[in-house]
Amino acid sequence: MITNKEKPKVLLCDDYVKLANFITEQLSAEGFEVEWTGTGHEALQKIREGFVGVVLLDVKLPDMSGLEVFEGIRQMAPDLPVVVITAHGTVDMAVDAVQKGAFDFIPKGQDLVKRLKISLKNAAERLSMTLRLNQLEGQVRGRTTFPDIITESSRMTKVLTSIREVSGSDVPVLITGETGTGKELVARAIHSNSPRRDKIFLPVNSAGIPEGLLETEMFGAEKGAYTGAVQARRGMFELADGGTIFLDEVGELPLSLQAKLLRVLQEGKFLRVGGSREISVNVRVISATNRDLLKEVEEKRFRDDLYYRLAVFPIEIPPLRERGEDIVLLSGYFLKQFSRQEGKEVHGIEHEALEILRNYSFPGNVRELRNIIRHAVLVAKGNMITAQDIDKEFLARREGLLAKVSDSIGERTNLQEFMKIAVPGSDYVAKLDNVVDAYIERVLEVLDGNVSKAAKALGVTRRTIYNRRKRGHKAN
Ligand SMILES: Nc1ncnc2c1ncn2[C@@H]1O[C@H](COP(=O)(O)OP(=O)(O)OP(=O)(O)O)[C@@H](O)[C@H]1O
Ligand SMILES: [Mg+2]
Repeated sequence: MITNKEKPKVLLCDDYVKLANFITEQLSAEGFEVEWTGTGHEALQKIREGFVGVVLLDVKLPDMSGLEVFEGIRQMAPDLPVVVITAHGTVDMAVDAVQKGAFDFIPKGQDLVKRLKISLKNAAERLSMTLRLNQLEGQVRGRTTFPDIITESSRMTKVLTSIREVSGSDVPVLITGETGTGKELVARAIHSNSPRRDKIFLPVNSAGIPEGLLETEMFGAEKGAYTGAVQARRGMFELADGGTIFLDEVGELPLSLQAKLLRVLQEGKFLRVGGSREISVNVRVISATNRDLLKEVEEKRFRDDLYYRLAVFPIEIPPLRERGEDIVLLSGYFLKQFSRQEGKEVHGIEHEALEILRNYSFPGNVRELRNIIRHAVLVAKGNMITAQDIDKEFLARREGLLAKVSDSIGERTNLQEFMKIAVPGSDYVAKLDNVVDAYIERVLEVLDGNVSKAAKALGVTRRTIYNRRKRGHKAN
């Protein structure tokens, strides 16, 4: 196993001893651990014995051609990156190898060592990503539990443990976490590991349904309950009978409906709108929120008795920036997913591009990372994602905007708190334009960048949003 992902083991296969010594010296000075072999057979033997690292392969060897060695490596250890070193007159062979999946090729010459170091760094990133994904796939196959939740962070491991603990029972679960952290993903994992897995999983987003319609949506209506109710109608709770209902954005639930929900949780019973017949259902309730619900309770916007009913088993998902190890892993996962989906041969992410991602704060969490990788795969020109493929300006602008609005108040999502603090006379006051811009970005983020939906939600035209964003780009 590799201990240091930036300095993997290197297997150098080159019969030209002088050059091999020189390369070994140079790379060792950089901290790489180099093993040397002079023949193709020896190199293949080492790989058969389980060498894990990057292979540096000369195309001309005494006993076999580099291409043959390369194909041998492919068969035994398809995940090992192979960097081909070419001499004058062997470039064709190297290009051939790259087309067959070699990681890179580097001509012998002045810049050899400099280029080797860069290529090794990139190869190392790819190798460590592949190894981790393989390991994870192995684990998944072993456990067959949460194939969609990709993580290796210890904080997320606690979340996975919670999912396992709570899946078997019917207790209500409250999932909290910032936008895009995977709340719905976790809710689905609980459902599909529960005895209800063959029944429906029904998400209800109370923030997305107008208040006037919400009660009917959730609890149904009897015939004649309101004008136009020519037929009785079943609500979500009836539709979800036997399964799991997922109350997304539960903090947005109006007080009037909170009482009704409480009763369902306590007795499994409710009345349709305009009805007097009690309806019983057997539904497991999982809810989610990105608000601080306890604070909502304190401020009397959320019933405390309901809170304690919903939060019998709380699960908190940490934001992506607090689990840095997942950034690289998830990048690799989404890269695989989107390159397959787009039919593009993009195999890895260059070191420099990964550095940008490692240093970014991901206000939109995993969803944002997913969108960034999707975009990068679409615009990638070669078979690696480069720093240019990552929309750096966009990241900087977003970060700048959000920082302006949120820095001195620490909490990005809490508008009430923000307004208390960001006033003249305090040490912080926000420019209205910045607040509006940041709010637009936030709405877009929640709506997956869909401008039409955002315009509708904000009660403005799409043009307004485009114009403001264009202006924002210039101003920043
Ligand atoms: N650990 C993970 N592994 C793989 N994909 C993930 C992971 N976490 C989140 N995702 C993906 O990120 C996206 C956002 O996840 P999800 O919708 O569950 O977030 P959320 O917390 O419900 O967001 P919101 O608060 O905006 O509703 C989805 O495409 C989801 O599949
Ligand atoms: Mg969600």
